[in-house]
Amino acid sequence: MSFPATRLRRLRRTDTLRALVRETSLSLDDVVMPLFACPGEGVVRPVAGLPGIAQRSVDELAREASELATRGIRAVLLFGIPESKDDEGSGAWDADGIVQRALRALRAETPGLTLLTDVCLCEYTAHGHCGTLCEAGDSVANDETLDLLVRTAVSHVEAGADAVCPSDMMDGRVGAIRAALPETPIVSYAAKYASAFYGPFREVAESTPALGDRRGYQMDPANAREALRECALDLDEGADVLMVKPALPYLDVIRAVRERFDCPVWAYQVSGEYAMIRAAADAGHLEERRAALESLTAIKRAGAGTVVTYWAKELGEWL
Ligand code: PBG
Repeated sequence: MSFPATRLRRLRRTDTLRALVRETSLSLDDVVMPLFACPGEGVVRPVAGLPGIAQRSVDELAREASELATRGIRAVLLFGIPESKDDEGSGAWDADGIVQRALRALRAETPGLTLLTDVCLCEYTAHGHCGTLCEAGDSVANDETLDLLVRTAVSHVEAGADAVCPSDMMDGRVGAIRAALPETPIVSYAAKYASAFYGPFREVAESTPALGDRRGYQMDPANAREALRECALDLDEGADVLMVKPALPYLDVIRAVRERFDCPVWAYQVSGEYAMIRAAADAGHLEERRAALESLTAIKRAGAGTVVTYWAKELGEWL
């Protein structure tokens, strides 16, 4: 008598057989490494919550970028920590701002690397919100913020960005950026949830809101259908790629977006997802490499074509 499962076991007999019937693959072509640029020279400032990740001055960032390129990483996503912050976040669109300087350095020193930039104001505003505040100071002024985001995206492209990734979640921002930049690929953080898993990122980007939280503009973790509406709007406005963020707690959303739309779908495995596994591994409770590869494979299996991940650098060694 033969159990149906026996047939499946036959396919697990050797590594090659396993590989030949594998449904999901992970390669260096499908990962993007986030990088954090900060002022100064010779600065490599590690972040407590994100072991292995650091803020780097532009010279050190260029060194790190060439190391990534050597390891086979194809693309990086740039964030900046400015010298000083103000109410509007003017450091975000300064032609000589931190991301703009990093872009020019990387363009020159690692020409083969694709440079994506996060377009948002929260690292640049003194209050830490993703846009400028309305007069009462208790909410973000959506329409006033759009113009500032457009200026930011345009300044990134002028400094050498290959694609821009608006992550602010203001209404209408993709359309506004598209009108100013008809030829630039836009990777929209379309389904971005108001998540506790951004904790370590806010430490490294120094962007924790001074007052309140981001629930006014980021999505409620309880909603999946709303994510599809956000995605449809962003596509209509001219987005080229839809991104879901965070990744592992939102696999159902990744799957739903993949099934509904024909465009490329990316996922952002965020800082808290990385920090959890790193902390458990550092405490000896699990194997970092296996847990990382398993989560990344799961995110791809759910439907993400590309994953932004803090493990991209290690993947260069692991794969
Ligand atoms: C900027 C931005 C955030 C992240 C990416 N872009 C933080 C936030 O919205 O609070 C989070 C990334 C991570 O946690 O790794 N708005």
